[in-house]
Amino acid sequence: MTLYGVGLGPGESDLVTVRGKEVLETADVVYSPGRLSRSVATEHVPADRIGDVDFPMTRDEDELRRAWKAAAGEIAPTARDGTAAFVTLGDPNVYSTFGHLRRTLDAFHPDVTVKTVPGVSAVTAFTTALGVEITAGSSIALHEAAGGASPTGPDRMVLFKVTDAPATHEGLAAAGYDVVYGRRLFMEHGETVVTDDPTEIDERDYYTLAYAKRPGNRETPATATFEGIDQSGAPTGTPKTDGGVGSQTAGSTRDDDFQPPNDVMAWELAEGIAHGDAVPEVPPR
Ligand SMILES: C[S@@+](CC[C@H](N)C(=O)[O-])C[C@H]1O[C@@H](n2cnc3c(N)ncnc32)[C@H](O)[C@@H]1O
Repeated sequence: MTLYGVGLGPGESDLVTVRGKEVLETADVVYSPGRLSRSVATEHVPADRIGDVDFPMTRDEDELRRAWKAAAGEIAPTARDGTAAFVTLGDPNVYSTFGHLRRTLDAFHPDVTVKTVPGVSAVTAFTTALGVEITAGSSIALHEAAGGASPTGPDRMVLFKVTDAPATHEGLAAAGYDVVYGRRLFMEHGETVVTDDPTEIDERDYYTLAYAKRPGNRETPATATFEGIDQSGAPTGTPKTDGGVGSQTAGSTRDDDFQPPNDVMAWELAEGIAHGDAVPEVPPR
């Protein structure tokens, strides 16, 4: 019937989405391409329903194609007769192996239906862990920085695959960026490190990212004036930030009986303003 690509989130088993958990609990076989994704999946699925798929550590495209054809050949019968899941850390469509599987199934097993359950990606989870806020109106780019590369771009960037932090840091600092690194964020295995000192993470660990920001382009949201004052309006010692891991308040503030007004444009405008868009000088009619 169906193969589901399920995003497991960054690595803590309670960051799997409710929908992802439902698929894992009901799938006939849950295929896992790696040890870390397997360890998260086994929190939700008994080990006897987990199927391993192996991929060679190679850049040889012929060898990779052969491996994906073999994996698709193994997964397709399960997905055709029932439900299969293929798990990836983060989101299945962000720098992920899932795309290879989907394309290979489309080409050689087109009768298999493929669906995706999105996951919490490191692309967004890093903000909470590093205490970063991407404010309305800002631009941000996503790059890879393997092997000490230091790509540059807009004033804010997220860099994945930071395998040589000191070398990457040198290039970014020379280009005027301030950089914070996050290693093993929201992961059950290994030590979580958040630092702006690349020498603290000079040992290679694939699960390392960087947030690079050029100073100077200061955006001040209206509520920024609240930082550093207490309830009476007097200055406090230290401004409050969410240092990250684990101190978020979950839940929506939307009323249960919320109904959008009839005037769609006014509603969209109000939604936009509620999410930080600038208030237009002349509201649309
Ligand atoms: C191949 S990409 C996979 C991205 C994943 N699909 C996602 O959506 O988060 C792997 C890179 O993502 C970053 N990454 C993924 N999970 C991470 C985590 N929990 N902590 C820090 N970096 C992470 C690292 O830079 C790593 O090299």
